Amino acid sequence: MTEAPSPWLTYRRLIGFARPYRGLLVLAAVGMLLEAAAGAYFTFLMSPVIDDTFSEGDKGVGLLLPLSIVGLFVVRGIAGYIADTQMAKSGRSIARDLRVNVLDKYLRLPGLRFDAEPVPSMLIRLGSDSDQVSQAAIDALRVMVQQTLQVVGSLAVMLYYSWRVTVAIFLLGPPLAWVMDKVGRRYRSISHRIQESGGHLLQAAEQALSNQQEVKVYGAQRVELARYTELANTNLRLSMKVEATRSISSALVQLMGSIGLALLLFLAGREAVAGRLSAGDFVALMMAMMAIIPALKQLTNVQGMLQRGVASAERLFTVLDAPDEVDTGGRALVRARGEIEFRDVTARYPGQQQAALSDVAFVARPGTVTAIVGRSGSGKSTLIKLIPRFYDVESGQILLDGHPLQDYRLADLRRQIALVGQQVMLFDGTVAENVAYGELQDATDGKLDAAIEGANAMEFVARMPDGLRTSIGSKGGRLSGGQRQRLAIARAMLKDAPILILDEATAALDTESERLVQDALNRLMPDRTTLVIAHRLSTIEHADQVLVMDHGRIVERGTHSELLQQGGLYAHLHRMQFHEGP
Ligand SMILES: Nc1ncnc2c1ncn2[C@@H]1O[C@H](COP(=O)(O)OP(=O)(O)OP(=O)(O)O)[C@@H](O)[C@H]1O
Ligand SMILES: [Mg+2]
Repeated sequence: MTEAPSPWLTYRRLIGFARPYRGLLVLAAVGMLLEAAAGAYFTFLMSPVIDDTFSEGDKGVGLLLPLSIVGLFVVRGIAGYIADTQMAKSGRSIARDLRVNVLDKYLRLPGLRFDAEPVPSMLIRLGSDSDQVSQAAIDALRVMVQQTLQVVGSLAVMLYYSWRVTVAIFLLGPPLAWVMDKVGRRYRSISHRIQESGGHLLQAAEQALSNQQEVKVYGAQRVELARYTELANTNLRLSMKVEATRSISSALVQLMGSIGLALLLFLAGREAVAGRLSAGDFVALMMAMMAIIPALKQLTNVQGMLQRGVASAERLFTVLDAPDEVDTGGRALVRARGEIEFRDVTARYPGQQQAALSDVAFVARPGTVTAIVGRSGSGKSTLIKLIPRFYDVESGQILLDGHPLQDYRLADLRRQIALVGQQVMLFDGTVAENVAYGELQDATDGKLDAAIEGANAMEFVARMPDGLRTSIGSKGGRLSGGQRQRLAIARAMLKDAPILILDEATAALDTESERLVQDALNRLMPDRTTLVIAHRLSTIEHADQVLVMDHGRIVERGTHSELLQQGGLYAHLHRMQFHEGP
């Protein structure tokens, strides 16, 4: 991360998110003003209340004062209600706006970002960070305004009754400010760390829970629990530091308050002797001061709230400011012919010495199948990830229909590609929603049925309780591996894109599923440019060209039989891997 922007700049930007809610905030401000005025006026009334009631026994005001007190509290309650609700509404709305913006941003970030930032940490940004920020922007603002008004109102009352006493007492201000500043600094450093620690906690839990089967089979409960416990302990330690800081700060503020009170007693006594302070004035003074103390205490807590919010906001803003996927091409593309050419492509993951791909060059023509084979880690997946531009090349060029990929608009380019990955990704929803996914969601029922039929998926979809409208569970958990693959193929069929990219599953299916999947694929491939990372012998045998990869390079190429005759790496791999055909 680069030099962090100043907290003030971050806060200013944060307040920018409140702009759409100006109306609500103005209403809230009016509410707060009324509330504070009513409170101050109540304190102010204390002097006449005491003096009139207890001194001369003047019966004339006997009813008016008590009633006006009730009236004051009615006004205060209503005003407070308006202030609270309007503030809460704008705060929650800001949190929502931030969340939506941040998710939108995440979906536009380049693939590299996802290697660098684990998903649980992204979830924290969307969750607690967004909440903290809205608290900083709004709740803190509310406390600040409310309590400042409280202080100002009370101060006015104090000044009115005895400026001498007030001035003397407020010599305590500077030391108080010093304490608040110290506490604030400490808060900031801890709150940054506590957020990070929360992220690590979530990550550890996510890892253990989503891999629960592995955890159980390998008896890793203790290890996972220990990892989690250690993180939880760190979190606890940090929380304790925060609480201790908070408690010490409020104790200090209270201490200052008591010193103030002592001072008040001492000074007021002298003023009373001099005839400048009545009993009522004294009570009003004391009540005003007592109202100031909790207000000041809350104001010191605001510090922490603000610091946490600003820390969260900084993180959210680094996400929002991260550059989008590069999408500068202007060439429109409706339907590509589908000729793909790699020209001496070299690609490297950041921080890696070895290039993942070196000088890869080949042409894949429309209507042909290119099979990519090679040992694990040889760069096969990297190669195909370059085509939808999940990653960009380091040097060399990839052309589609004779033009560099970057020249096309990203969305247009990706519209040309259907992708069936190694692990089929399905979403929580119905079969129909999963097949007609994204831009396909407007597909007609006829097309949808045809795609599912073509993918050999109808036989099991039809048997599901609600057919196409059956929910398949989170990540398609209620389906078998082969069924999931066939749904992914149906999705690709519905997309009907000129380029088809397959990363065949390494896990072998049973012969029957295998046949169904293979049959579906055979129906999907014709008339397209197909690139397939092949693990099945049958796929390779039917391919128009086979590229054999090793350490990021294409080391052999040709058809299956040509390569076998060469007796090189392919022949070796073939002996090792592909002895059992389907
Ligand atoms: N996201 C990544 N960040 C850093 N390095 C990566 C990343 N993905 C892959 N690599 C590295 O790049 C090299 C090529 O990986 P790639 O995934 O392309 O291999 P593969 O041929 O698809 O292997 P497999 O058959 O096991 O899927 C490997 O050395 C791998 O460690
Ligand atoms: Mg791979």
